[in-house]
Amino acid sequence: MMFTSRFTILALLAFLVGANAACATCQETLDVDGVTYELVTSAWKMNNGNVVCNYLNKKGDEVTCEYTESGVFRDGNSSCPQSSRKEDFGC
Ligand SMILES: *[C@@H]1O[C@H](CO)[C@@H](O)[C@H](O)[C@H]1NC(C)=O
Repeated sequence: MMFTSRFTILALLAFLVGANAACATCQETLDVDGVTYELVTSAWKMNNGNVVCNYLNKKGDEVTCEYTESGVFRDGNSSCPQSSRKEDFGC
C-alpha cells in the first residue's frame, strides 16, 4: 500500500509539473527609459538553472538580467523587468 500511494503522489506531481511546464525565457526587447535594448544572447546557467539575458542598445550599452527557472528576477541591471517572459513548452 505504501508503494501505491507513493506512486500516486509521484504521478500527480509529474502531472502538475507537466501542466505547468513554463520556463523562464528572455523577452526579445527591453525598454529602458524609452531606449530599446535588443536581446543578443540568452543562456542557461548550468550550476543553478538560472537564465541570463544580455541586451544591447544601438549605442552598445549592455544590460544583463538573470532570472530563476520560474522567471523571478535574481540579478543584473536594475532596469530589468522583475519577472521574465514564460514559454509554455519545455526548457
Ligand atoms: C544598467 O544598464 C545601463 C545601460 O547599459 C547602465 O548605464 C547602468 O549603469 C546599468 N545599471 C547597473 C546598476 O548596472
